[in-house]
Amino acid sequence: MNPDLNRLQSYPFEKLRQLKDGLQAPAGKSPIALSIGEPKHVPPHFVIEELISHLHGLENYPLTRGSTALREAVAAWLQRRFKLGASSQNERGIDPETQILPVNGTREALFAFAQAVVDRSENPLVVMPNPFYQIYEGAALLAGAEPWFLNTLADTDFVPDFDAVPVDVWQRCQLVYLCSPGNPTGAVVDATRLRQLIALADEHDFIIAADECYSEIYFDEDAPPVGLLQVCAEMGRDDFRRCVVFHSLSKRSNLPGLRSGFVAGDAEVLAKFLLYRTYHGSAMPPPTQAASIKAWNDETHVEKNREMYRENSTPYWRFCNRY
Ligand SMILES: Cc1ncc(COP(=O)(O)O)c(C=O)c1O
Repeated sequence: MNPDLNRLQSYPFEKLRQLKDGLQAPAGKSPIALSIGEPKHVPPHFVIEELISHLHGLENYPLTRGSTALREAVAAWLQRRFKLGASSQNERGIDPETQILPVNGTREALFAFAQAVVDRSENPLVVMPNPFYQIYEGAALLAGAEPWFLNTLADTDFVPDFDAVPVDVWQRCQLVYLCSPGNPTGAVVDATRLRQLIALADEHDFIIAADECYSEIYFDEDAPPVGLLQVCAEMGRDDFRRCVVFHSLSKRSNLPGLRSGFVAGDAEVLAKFLLYRTYHGSAMPPPTQAASIKAWNDETHVEKNREMYRENSTPYWRFCNRY
């Protein structure tokens, strides 16, 4: 067996299940669920309908790189949301042929990405925030790298402080996982810090994997969280060199069961990732692709979703403030 499997932590929700086993809530009190975070809002009806009406697509093997229509829908969404192309010669801002790949949710992609990009012969480090989404650590370990944890604490507003990373860590670093808005804190890494990280990536030759799966859940409609590709575009870095973002319909569109997302960015990196994925066998089923096009093309349901979170947040904050 692969000995690195023994280095993996058991999955947190499995640990939690074992810890809770046999416990009874005191009479008259209802437990607060701290188990797997799953969107509770209703998914858009028209996306489900599209999925159903394309079930006949199951008769074909899908391409790992997905349909052109899906990659074009994603490109258009990225361009609208992150203002790609605003400062570039490229009208579309991002090339759906070479700079976008569909994935079956960001979880599998975040894991697979490390397997594709880490060179295990070079004593590699993978830098990640702490606390962190557990997949980052397992991905690093199984890719033959050592995880290096960058604490995100209150004194830095819960965002990573790249100045706190020793130079010898940057020298061994091959991949940085970033999570913005962050899980669990919701903290957003701002454009200044993203520019700093891009400069460090150029200096020390590592890749940035920006997990932006919460980017569509925010309070102020006039101030959406900035994204890594957006900062690249603002810098005139149209090839998105060393930068890859991960997006998902799970939180944006309340469709965690659809298993649909995409990665986008550096074409050279994505070409290698596509090669890896072809062998890994992770093509998105055709009905899922059709439903995903509908979801990426519509913003109304996403705005309504945020509206519901805004309404829900009032009792939540009142609750928090009590303790
Ligand atoms: C930070 C973070 N990244 C990625 C994921 C994976 O989401 P999905 O695979 O549904 O896109 C999650 C899921 O909860 C998450 O919290």
